[in-house]
Amino acid sequence: MLFTDVIRTKRDGSALSREQIEFFVDGLADNSLPAEQVSSLAMAIFLNSMSFDEAGLLTSAMASSGTVLDWKKEGLGGPVVDKHSTGGVGDKVSFLLAPIAAACGCFVPMISGRGLGHTGGTTDKAESIPGYNATPDFGLFRKVVKDIGCAIIGQTEDLAPADRRFYAIRDVTGTVESVPLITASILAKKIAAGLDYLVMDIKLGNGAFMESPERARELANSIIKTADSARLKTHALITDMNEVLGTTVGNALEIRESIQYLRNEVREPRLDDVVLSLCAEMVLLGGIESDRESARRRCEEAVSSGKAAEKFARMTAALGGPIDFVDNYDAHLAKAPVIRPVHLDGVLTSVNARAVGNALIELGGGRKKVGEKLNFAVGFSDFASVGSALGQDRPLALIHAANDADADIATRNLLNACETGASSPEMRPVISEILTG
Ligand code: URA
Repeated sequence: MLFTDVIRTKRDGSALSREQIEFFVDGLADNSLPAEQVSSLAMAIFLNSMSFDEAGLLTSAMASSGTVLDWKKEGLGGPVVDKHSTGGVGDKVSFLLAPIAAACGCFVPMISGRGLGHTGGTTDKAESIPGYNATPDFGLFRKVVKDIGCAIIGQTEDLAPADRRFYAIRDVTGTVESVPLITASILAKKIAAGLDYLVMDIKLGNGAFMESPERARELANSIIKTADSARLKTHALITDMNEVLGTTVGNALEIRESIQYLRNEVREPRLDDVVLSLCAEMVLLGGIESDRESARRRCEEAVSSGKAAEKFARMTAALGGPIDFVDNYDAHLAKAPVIRPVHLDGVLTSVNARAVGNALIELGGGRKKVGEKLNFAVGFSDFASVGSALGQDRPLALIHAANDADADIATRNLLNACETGASSPEMRPVISEILTG
């Protein structure tokens, strides 16, 4: 088969056959297809989309392009549940939710992604913890999940390798925002991870890949239906991504906020709502509680009692991070040499979260090219939420930069991304829908 014929099939708007999809996935996994052909097909799919059946074939081919984990033989004694986000700005939910769910009795083998487009990646954030091994061998991954209840890792060489390569190429070729491609990318990893249940966080808004409620719903339904046909029971929450989630954006800064949350020091209300709602859905889906309210109470208890923080500390140490990380996080995390406030006057009425994500890339905290090394220390902290009154005593945010020139650019980018007015706008719900299939 000639790969140019596969590209031409999709370019001309026809459906790809099973053989064509398998040929593509094999070529991704064994690196025999060059990046220019992969990106060309990605763009053709982006423009002409895929049917439900094509997306299902792409999902299962990518899921079985490497090892598929089987937790049954581990005798875990609890449900194997995970959540996955479609990607946002300041989205550090995984670092909170995985240990909370583990403290509630779930087993969470979380295989996360790197930064994609303007959105940050959990794997990159995890690697900002000194010593943290985000690509352990399966033996260690299994042991950490079994002993502690959760392990957050990135895609290893063996797990859905076809998606790992496709993801990296999509990241830099403007081909991310496609319902079938996002569906296949997420579910390939989740099916390979051997889950019993999945909760999806479908981000909606100017910082999400889906900017309208209709598109967010379309993606949620596509994921639920495709997962169902792979016997992976999935619920989806549509959550607001029209501003930074929490108060930080940037790898080490987001880890810092996560620890402060787990230590019950700072729990930004929107972040808190997203974390507890998603986590309660995991506890409910996993059959640990029978209604959402009790599930949420159980999650809240896991945070306030410090049990979730303890799970996080044990997971981090087991994966090579510092043993005193939760107690002494500030001593371990990278810090930027330049930290300066950005000032605006008035009530913050809107934040273009995508522009904030892109501003982080400009600072060196996200990638412009495949494989680029990141500066973990840079980003934004103390980011005001929409509705906050800003002025000399309350800046919009603090910029953390490698040098003054970068900080100048970031200041301009943030000022362009945010608007103020005389009064607070109508507030959007943080969780707009729960879809259960
Ligand atoms: N997350 C993924 O894992 N893949 C996508 O394509 C988008 C978000």
